[in-house]
Amino acid sequence: LTTWTTEVCKRFCVRLKPEKPEKPEPEAAARAGAGGEVNVLLWWEPFGRPRRMADCRRRYNITGCRLSADRSRYGEAQAVLFHHRDLALHGAQGLPRGPPPRPARQLWVWMNFESPSHSPGLRGLAGLFNWTMSYRRDSDVFVPYGRLYAPPAPRPFVLPRKTRLVAWVVSNWNEEHARVRYYRQLKEHLAVDVYGARGLALAEGGVVETVSAYKFYLAFENSQHTDYITEKLWRNAFAAGAVPVVLGPRRANYERFIPPDSFIHVDDFPSPRLLAAYLKFLDKNKPSYRRYFAWRKKYEVHVTSFWDEHFCKVCEAVRAAGNQIKTVRNLAGWFES
Ligand SMILES: *[C@@H]1O[C@H](CO)[C@@H](O)[C@H](O)[C@H]1NC(C)=O
Ligand SMILES: *[C@@H]1O[C@H](CO)[C@@H](O)[C@H](O)[C@H]1NC(C)=O
Repeated sequence: LTTWTTEVCKRFCVRLKPEKPEKPEPEAAARAGAGGEVNVLLWWEPFGRPRRMADCRRRYNITGCRLSADRSRYGEAQAVLFHHRDLALHGAQGLPRGPPPRPARQLWVWMNFESPSHSPGLRGLAGLFNWTMSYRRDSDVFVPYGRLYAPPAPRPFVLPRKTRLVAWVVSNWNEEHARVRYYRQLKEHLAVDVYGARGLALAEGGVVETVSAYKFYLAFENSQHTDYITEKLWRNAFAAGAVPVVLGPRRANYERFIPPDSFIHVDDFPSPRLLAAYLKFLDKNKPSYRRYFAWRKKYEVHVTSFWDEHFCKVCEAVRAAGNQIKTVRNLAGWFES
């Protein structure tokens, strides 16, 4: 599960605390069912949208998974996934109550990819779940929005042709958000092309192509929380070949996941005015700008695919887990920390 972090961290995460101790060896796939299959039941389809279940073996080389949203399979499921947004909508009375009773070895997995600021109803959920799955590195099943990996022979990186300076895509415009306040100051000193609800129209699915013409992308998160680094960085900036200017958790938090010289952090500057000056400087200094792409010699970018990858990862984690019993006692306290 954490292979990719170790890959990335070999070089960049020197400041990291040591990894959590490894889980014990899977004792003959202790949790798998008869025939070595792992049955994963999705209690709610995320956001109420039904989808075809992935073939985990074909897509991720993860074998023996049976993913299903069919509740009649509850009794045979080794793991049941609960998506927080839907749980908040239906309330805890929407959880399985039995009969049949909760199977003794079944794992209830709390799944959430929103930040604490956008995760209502955490308080009532203490002591219900066995595992967490989220973008937080200390989740039982850690699935970040994206990751870097070091292939044996990385494809040569070709910098897309740049004709514009700074882009920002924002769909949820909220004057209270730190990102909108920062943008309002930044634009006094620098032209920013804003796309989304309040700005220029973006061709459907065209974020990556549009942004690739820009030198910089404002990867501003909607709220600032530990490890909350989303597709704004991974897809909109990295996959598009633009340098991310980030506003989110602190720089040290980003550096757990990506090279220090792969991004610009708003905290690196005492004011938006000075950030603007720096971006203008880079605009005129090609070698300095190009330094933000040095890491591409070694790494490629993987953008996580919602939700197939998540479901398959749970299956893999169930298979790898031993027989320990665990309950998440203080979900809110942990997630909000
Ligand atoms: C698939 O997984 C198996 C077992 O973990 C491994 O031996 C094999 O090399 C993997 N194949 C690919 C294409 O990654
Ligand atoms: C899961 O959590 C429940 C509720 O605390 C607990 O009764 C059960 O033993 C746990 N199961 C596992 C497999 O950890």
